[in-house]
Amino acid sequence: MHSTLAHPALLRDQNLIASQWRPAQSEARLPVSNPAQDTVFAHVPDSGAADARAAADAAHAAFPAWSGRPAPERARFLKRWHAEILRHQEDLARLISAEQGKPLAESRGEVLYGASYVEWFAEEANRIRGDILNAAVPGRRMMVLKEPVGVVAAITPWNFPLAMIARKIAPALAAGCTVVAKPAEDTPLTALALAYLAQQAGLPAGVLNLVTASRRNTPAVVDAWLADSRVRKITFTGSTPVGKHLARESADTLKKLSLELGGNAPFIVFDDADLDAAVEGLMASKFRNGGQTCVCPNRIYVQAGAHDEFVARLVKRVAALRVGPATEEGSQIGPMINARAVDKIDRHVRDAVERGARVETGGQRMRAADGPHYYAPTVLSGATPAMALSCEETFGPVAPVFRFTSEEEVIGHANDTPFGLAAYFYSSDTRRIWRVAQALETGIVGINEGAIASEAAPFGGVKESGYGREGSSYGLDDYLHTKYLCQGQLG
Ligand code: SIN
Repeated sequence: MHSTLAHPALLRDQNLIASQWRPAQSEARLPVSNPAQDTVFAHVPDSGAADARAAADAAHAAFPAWSGRPAPERARFLKRWHAEILRHQEDLARLISAEQGKPLAESRGEVLYGASYVEWFAEEANRIRGDILNAAVPGRRMMVLKEPVGVVAAITPWNFPLAMIARKIAPALAAGCTVVAKPAEDTPLTALALAYLAQQAGLPAGVLNLVTASRRNTPAVVDAWLADSRVRKITFTGSTPVGKHLARESADTLKKLSLELGGNAPFIVFDDADLDAAVEGLMASKFRNGGQTCVCPNRIYVQAGAHDEFVARLVKRVAALRVGPATEEGSQIGPMINARAVDKIDRHVRDAVERGARVETGGQRMRAADGPHYYAPTVLSGATPAMALSCEETFGPVAPVFRFTSEEEVIGHANDTPFGLAAYFYSSDTRRIWRVAQALETGIVGINEGAIASEAAPFGGVKESGYGREGSSYGLDDYLHTKYLCQGQLG
């Protein structure tokens, strides 16, 4: 890997704690492998509770000075970090593709996407403000201050190794919080490179601390932070069962929580939709990162009058997708993250076919020359609520199409899930647009649009998809407390 990076120092193999690069105290190592082949190409620390506590000690010690800095100073740091990320865009993209498997073109896009949160929150830092209230009693002044919550623990997933951690760390630092972070066990290298760039940008010691750990040791790291009353907030992106565990276990110290959890997004195409735009939107949202995103459509509902034409146009596009190694220019779908992921996708497809779905294209594992973890981009028709893919996130390149007749019926199906992260629909009827947008029980709705993510927008869910928002000014609020001051005796 070193030889493919213009700046090999980005490939870090130690934890960052109090501005020092350190091995795990146990000296245990975690292998990092290429998802296509499972071949190990790097090692990082397999940290435990002692490393997590050392990181929290450093973040706690750094908090008074960092939170006491004027906001423009914190903003200037974030701007320098943003510039460093852009300067190393190509190396960062290569790291993302190597450890996560998304095609290089998408990885380059992810670097820009993640960097946009850093730039956004650099600007938001200068806009943190309180309020002066009208006092109901003479001789009083009533004021509201916004203060950083304290030490934040950020726990991030593998599907966007750069963007997810950037959009947690950037608002935390902008607000004046200090951070302990643990990236996903499958994709630690990009996060370590980001931390290195933060250091290069002049971040003071202890403000950002990062430890890596295996699936086996992650509970020890996270439990150490859960039990630590100095850690005042947990921000997590990942599965709903883990999110619920964090909510339960942080109750003893009543930490603030932001949870961006699983989804089961419906994508609805009404008869009156522009079908070309709907196919385009579905391609963008469903097949981004090979279908491994929380917001990607999991259930595609197409109204009877548009159904056959929509499926025909979709199949043409999906069958033409180029599947190949992440680092090969022109690849559009890379390998899935690991064997478990491919097994789940295959289980969903086989279950759907057994229950009557028809494979329009794909529908099987692919044996690419460079490894076993590829799955053919797939369209299924005749999907029904009885199929596993209707209630579980498939997290792969599979588009199951359900036929529906009425608006009322499809809203019922769309909302018939414990999850509520994203939903999409296509229609050209203005009245329907407002009705459906209001009826969908999700935190995000794409209306005639498949690419909804933006640093300027609040990203997050309702129901069992979690709470809290990332991005936009709402995303900064998650890292701030509201303090009320009441001054009396003013005559
Ligand atoms: C996710 O899959 O959790 C995030 C996707 C995005 O930011 O668009």
